[in-house]
Amino acid sequence: MSETAVVSQRSISESAPETLGSVLIIDDEAEIRESLETLLQLEGYTVASAASGREGMAQIGERPFDVVLLDLALPDKSGMDVLAEMRLLNAQQAVIMVTAYGTVENAVRAMQFGATNFIQKPWDNEKLLADVRAAVARFKAEEENVQLKRALKQRYNFENIVGKSEPMLKIFDLVAQVAPSRSTVLLQGESGTGKEIIAKALHLNSPRRERPFVPVNTGSMPPDLLESTLFGHVKGAFTSAIASKKGLFEVADRGTLFLDEIGTMGLDMQSKILRVLQDRRFMHLGGVQEIQADVRIIAATNVDLRQMVREGRFREDLFYRLNVISIDLPALRQRREDIPLLVEHFLKKYSEENERPKRRITTEALRPLVSYAWPGNVRELENVIERAVVLSSDIDVGIDLLPDHIVGRGTPVPRLDADPGASLFDIMEDCERRIVIDMLEKCGWNQTEAAERFHVPLSTLNQKIKRLNIEIKKKNNNHRE
Ligand SMILES: Nc1ncnc2c1ncn2[C@@H]1O[C@H](COP(=O)(O)OP(=O)(O)OP(=O)(O)O)[C@@H](O)[C@H]1O
Ligand SMILES: [Mg+2]
Repeated sequence: MSETAVVSQRSISESAPETLGSVLIIDDEAEIRESLETLLQLEGYTVASAASGREGMAQIGERPFDVVLLDLALPDKSGMDVLAEMRLLNAQQAVIMVTAYGTVENAVRAMQFGATNFIQKPWDNEKLLADVRAAVARFKAEEENVQLKRALKQRYNFENIVGKSEPMLKIFDLVAQVAPSRSTVLLQGESGTGKEIIAKALHLNSPRRERPFVPVNTGSMPPDLLESTLFGHVKGAFTSAIASKKGLFEVADRGTLFLDEIGTMGLDMQSKILRVLQDRRFMHLGGVQEIQADVRIIAATNVDLRQMVREGRFREDLFYRLNVISIDLPALRQRREDIPLLVEHFLKKYSEENERPKRRITTEALRPLVSYAWPGNVRELENVIERAVVLSSDIDVGIDLLPDHIVGRGTPVPRLDADPGASLFDIMEDCERRIVIDMLEKCGWNQTEAAERFHVPLSTLNQKIKRLNIEIKKKNNNHRE
């Protein structure tokens, strides 16, 4: 009975124009590869196999697979490293870790790092086939999802905004949904995460797109100047007001006003903005006439406004007015899968700008770019790539064109093969810890100086020190050698 079942399955798979999916087996034991190959081929899959991590990666580089069955303990590199490399290459396939009895813990860690599932040796054929079937289905559903999102992205005007990570795709969705309305939007995120570029996308996808998008940095102006800049003034309103002047609320009429760094605005100014948001009218400084304000407000902040509200430094009512819809932009290190895309995007942009043949990044140079912590987020990455393009004399942009602190020159970077069980996450954390300690040592453990040299706020550095469990040593006063 079971024999006929196998025979009929084989004839179906041989006559079927398409297979159930493609599977790559990476395992150093020939016997295991052969038995998996036979099992999967009989079921109707196209199967390829590789005896080492390097050989497996070479095959992945050549053509896409739906599923990879990956042995955790390979001779040349650990399955974890292969998994990390696949993610680095942006390979999307589902990965099932194959693990010997007793190493389940590592397989679970692999799942935290993006493996789909794991199976233990010796495996049960039925269960293995069911797992592969589920992985193929999941891979196809994800592919479809990405395609749909891509189509959506093209339908809207997200030109020059790059991203394919889950959080960024969600943001594109949200932008598409809320752009057409007039609702106030609050954009929150660390410096350089793309708040302004998203604010512009909201404007460009709204019915206001033909009208002006007016950015104003509320943090960089003294309060009096900010007030007259926003609301305008009549002639003689104050000593230097020799002529009347329109305010940005009027310049942005029927358009969008982008209030950047809203967290740095004083309480007095906050009340004035709140009034315009409530009444949708305002007056010129020194004026008597009320002016209608048909302006959509988008605000941005890189500080935690909720915390400021708790501390009494930001008006709660204004916070709720601004926070009708809020979009949180994740730090670049929280969406590393976007890094290769962004690198590509900026290589193209700066090659064109400098009228040079399109540059490409070497795999060796991409590695540190993906694992670096990017405290200055996309802006910092953009600057690094611009510099590399300008300095490059060749099509290939290699590691020598990247700044020392990114490649870790001078800082011992943990080797990938140091601990075969370590996940990329552990390695990166280790790397981050070493870089922070290295800088602290250079600065004689003066945290303020270290924060300055890292170009991050002191609070960010202190959070890092705490998270990375770094023990602070005593300040050393004669640290500058
Ligand atoms: N997803 C993205 N795709 C392409 N370019 C991006 C993306 N995000 C940011 N950038 C680019 O990075 C730079 C910084 O972005 P932006 O000015 O929007 O950040 P920001 O959050 O407003 O920063 P800050 O808080 O420092 O003002 C800009 O040149 C922008 O074009
Ligand atoms: Mg900005």
